[in-house]
Amino acid sequence: MGNKIYELPVIFCDRIRLTEVFANLVSNAVKFADKQPVVIDIGCERNGIWYEFYVKDNGPGIEERYFEKIFKIFERLEKRGTSEGSGAGLAIVKKVVEMHKGRVGVKSELGKGTTFYFTIPAVKECLLRDMDSEDSARGDRATEDSA
Ligand SMILES: Nc1ncnc2c1ncn2[C@@H]1O[C@H](COP(=O)(O)OP(=O)(O)O)[C@@H](O)[C@H]1O
Ligand SMILES: [Mg+2]
Repeated sequence: MGNKIYELPVIFCDRIRLTEVFANLVSNAVKFADKQPVVIDIGCERNGIWYEFYVKDNGPGIEERYFEKIFKIFERLEKRGTSEGSGAGLAIVKKVVEMHKGRVGVKSELGKGTTFYFTIPAVKECLLRDMDSEDSARGDRATEDSA
């Protein structure tokens, strides 16, 4: 079997937090894997001003009725003690992605696998524009305070 090589884009982001997003998604894909060979596919597609990243696995899958629940902090679908983890991973993923103005989602078919995907602005200015307005808002308040 050949190795697929994906060229992931260079993005403007909080590097440490975005690394944590990938680490959480990949470690889940590894942790819940239930069949050999384990196949994990990481990629990205451009969609207008957004990059849509995905981490796709061929694991057990997740029932659609749990799609919202898994993103809540400390929610896990397994019984306690059956796998390592606090149930905070996906809640952190969602929080970090939303900090970058993106959205997270999940597609899955039971028994076949799961794809987690998230969007990040492809255009640096989209992130900066908001940061600038937040900075100037803070600046305004600071001026008021010192007046
Ligand atoms: N790739 C996956 N395949 C199957 N189930 C998953 C996958 N990723 C997450 N889950 C389910 O979502 C739950 C929440 O994930 P997460 O917040 O990372 O918590 P943790 O990894 O600590 O269990 C997991 O406990 C598991 O039930
Ligand atoms: Mg996890």
